[in-house]
Amino acid sequence: MTQSTTQPTPADRFTFGLWTVGWQAQDPFGAVTRAPLDPVESVERLSELGAYGVTFHDDDLIPFGSDAATRDKKIADFKAALARTGMKVPMVTTNLFSQPVFKDGGFTSNDRTVRRYALRKVMRNLDLAAELGASTYVFWGGREGSESEAAKDVRIALDRYREGLDTLAGYVKDRGYGLRFALEPKPNEPRGDIILPTIGHALAFINSLEHADMVGLNPEVGHEQMAGLNFVHGVAQALWHGKLFHIDLNGQRGVKYDQDLIFGHGDLINAFFLVDLLENGVEGANSYDGPRHFDYKPLRTEDFDGVWASAAANMRTYLLLKERALAFRADPEVQQAMVDAKIGELALPTLAAGESVEDLLSDRSAFEDFDAVAVGKRGCGFVRLNQLAVEHLMGAR
Ligand code: GCO
Ligand code: MN
Ligand code: MN
Repeated sequence: MTQSTTQPTPADRFTFGLWTVGWQAQDPFGAVTRAPLDPVESVERLSELGAYGVTFHDDDLIPFGSDAATRDKKIADFKAALARTGMKVPMVTTNLFSQPVFKDGGFTSNDRTVRRYALRKVMRNLDLAAELGASTYVFWGGREGSESEAAKDVRIALDRYREGLDTLAGYVKDRGYGLRFALEPKPNEPRGDIILPTIGHALAFINSLEHADMVGLNPEVGHEQMAGLNFVHGVAQALWHGKLFHIDLNGQRGVKYDQDLIFGHGDLINAFFLVDLLENGVEGANSYDGPRHFDYKPLRTEDFDGVWASAAANMRTYLLLKERALAFRADPEVQQAMVDAKIGELALPTLAAGESVEDLLSDRSAFEDFDAVAVGKRGCGFVRLNQLAVEHLMGAR
């Protein structure tokens, strides 16, 4: 393994939320363990580590409640750091969850005045996102939900969610901003139950939107895994619908609270197949060309050395997995095992070109003469293939 393939460069398009390295590590049981981090320092340090860009919530850059002069200064300092380092801002998002006013949500709060305020807060930040050249705007509705079925009529809440997104998408189109929206599902936390809990729920919801063409997904590894779901399957379906607009990479170990671990520090085998899907897609074609965005939390146990080590670890792990996935695909034994497992045969349409249902009905080899018992006895060869993947992942081949 050479150093060069695992040394990140901007061409790898790795991005980090300002809220990740900047997390002060307060949790429900304890106080902060780290000092605040100036966004300018985050931009500089991440650039030195080889990242392509940063992303942020409005409140990460401009503390909530700042006056106009403070806001202007924060934005100017940030822009100067971007200019100095060449770092980009491909994605921006809104904090509609930290302040007490959003305790019952932003777009789906029962209180109409809160919903109107939420729309205005997003609009103001959409202007900034466009100014910074972002192409994706993320919507993570962490407070859109409830702890009691009595407290929220989900059907009506979905009406308001749709109204909010339709209004904002119309605003973006009217202003000519080149932004697409990416919804980020999560099953729970901070709300007991969050609306749009999984990739599947969000995909169905997007179909009901007025500007569905400009709305896709920002799935997060840990969020699907919190629901016990297979992230690679979810991402594959999002790709299939043409809706993988952005991605949040991190790690999670099973069905529990949102761990936001370093990428690969949770389910490593699923991470291997995720990188293989993103980088090699179907038959070696790259299936996703957006930023590889890390949304993780440096462990609360770490000091700032540990914070920067964790940022580097995300990128190095991704590149190592990319290297392993390429070696897996290039291995002749793997290629033979794929043939044996009929991986390519799935791409053959089940009916032949031009074959009608009548033709299928009259094909005796498909049914009357088909030996279902004999075919049922045939092994699929998936264990061999999976073991080869595990061995490549472990560096054993
Ligand atoms: C989480 C979420 C958030 C969002 C981010 C963007 O871990 O619950 O990932 O971090 O991605 O706030 O709005
Ligand atoms: Mn998360
Ligand atoms: Mn996220």
